Amino acid sequence: MAVYDPAVREFSINVERNMLVYDPAIRELAALLESPEMKDVKPEIREKLENILDMCNKRNNYAEEITTEHSDVLAQITQETMNHPWEEVFKAGKTPWIMATRMISGPITSQFLNFIVSITKAKQILEIGMFTGYTALSMAEALPADGVVITCEISDYLKDLTSEFFSRSPHGKKIKPYFGPARETLETLTKEGRVFDVVFVDADKAGYRGYVETILDNGLLAPNGIILADNALSDGRPYLIPKSREQNPINDFNEYIANRPDLRQVLLPFRDGILAIRRTLEAEGQAG
Ligand SMILES: C[S@@+](CC[C@H](N)C(=O)[O-])C[C@H]1O[C@@H](n2cnc3c(N)ncnc32)[C@H](O)[C@@H]1O
Repeated sequence: MAVYDPAVREFSINVERNMLVYDPAIRELAALLESPEMKDVKPEIREKLENILDMCNKRNNYAEEITTEHSDVLAQITQETMNHPWEEVFKAGKTPWIMATRMISGPITSQFLNFIVSITKAKQILEIGMFTGYTALSMAEALPADGVVITCEISDYLKDLTSEFFSRSPHGKKIKPYFGPARETLETLTKEGRVFDVVFVDADKAGYRGYVETILDNGLLAPNGIILADNALSDGRPYLIPKSREQNPINDFNEYIANRPDLRQVLLPFRDGILAIRRTLEAEGQAG
């Protein structure tokens, strides 16, 4: 597949235009309503389309309203991440790329992760992809005092920023960032003999498959452990442009997981999608 495939390019432009919207149907409708073709459309049809867009947005907003509100510190991290001068920081050579504010997860993901940590009674959490620490702290807030979130991050620039953010919360002390490429950190964690109850994967998409293979092969996941892989719907790419494998490593990752008989998985379609993965247990499905 050529890098400049027009369909992929057009798709990417549309994603850029509506950065915080993950559902391509909503993006497409918003783009249509702004397009010049709309001037020839009857007002009642335009009104109907606007109502449809409104319904989609209300659905998302309602889900956020009903979900438990995230903590004050999480709200501060969100706000300050949005206002941070990422472009200037990148131009000054302090980050490997422009950190996109869209990378920070939203309140539903935050409370979902918190929920999973709580109901699984997890104590050892691994995160791959810390960014400004929003999801690491979301999980830490659900841990008991002796629980730990080990979080991997490649960019040293985030060291001071996250350490200051974590110092604002009594749960921050449960978070232990490991800086460097996640692949290397996974080797270190293997040597340390770590075993995790919950793993949240949210870093470079091309790395997902390798991370999950290493986690499973090196015994980093507890027998009843759960892996949650973010961006499993990747802005709609897996089902809209499925052949574009170079552009979208998530296609391969999702298929790889779906084709492994030793795993069970469910794709949760909120925000940009989370693929929840666990091992198939030997005793599972026995009828006595
Ligand atoms: C999507 S952001 C994580 C967002 C965070 N989980 C949240 O929701 O607030 C991905 C992060 O992974 C980091 N990253 C990318 N490639 C990496 C790698 N190979 N090893 C470790 N971290 C990496 C990026 O620097 C970025 O901060």
